[in-house]
Amino acid sequence: MKGIVAYDSVHGSTKAVAEAIAEQITSEGHQAQLIAVKQWTKAPLVGDFLFVGSPTRGGKMTNEAKDFIESLDPAQWKGKKVVTFDTVGPLSKDAEKRNKTLASLNDKNAASRMKEICQERGIPVYTVMHFAVVGMWGPLAPDAPQMAKEQTHRFLAELK
Ligand SMILES: Cc1cc2nc3c(=O)[nH]c(=O)nc-3n(C[C@H](O)[C@H](O)[C@H](O)COP(=O)(O)O)c2cc1C
Repeated sequence: MKGIVAYDSVHGSTKAVAEAIAEQITSEGHQAQLIAVKQWTKAPLVGDFLFVGSPTRGGKMTNEAKDFIESLDPAQWKGKKVVTFDTVGPLSKDAEKRNKTLASLNDKNAASRMKEICQERGIPVYTVMHFAVVGMWGPLAPDAPQMAKEQTHRFLAELK
């Protein structure tokens, strides 16, 4: 199968999460196409599943991530698994506290907002993933790439 991992990133943390997701997809024998949405030429997307990520800024996704979501073809994606993911922060440097916060986020974040827009457009979202940064502009929490890989592994197991 082929997965598309599209992301926006201002300071690099969401990009690092996207790369970890793509790495996990390929390590399990699938193909992955990484797309930086700022560089996307609107070339047709060919894939069996889609991850879309954005940093959370002002409680929502970036305009570039929003444009990407709004240009998805509902006829193409409504029957396929779509995941939205984001980075949020700054969260605690203490892993236990950070993961507690991650597990109890409200919906004022990029991934939840992207899910709402997808669903308004008739594209169901299979799941939402959040990853932490520990400063306002990053860096990414040290356990985030591994968490991204584990969550991607669970997603791929459910694809079968
Ligand atoms: C102007 C600005 C607004 C932000 N607003 C939020 C916010 O509403 N909620 C949040 O969790 N993080 C917020 N952040 C932190 C970002 O989520 C963080 O910079 C981002 O995850 C880094 O990802 P990137 O390196 O991919 O850009 C904000 C950061 C900036 C610079």
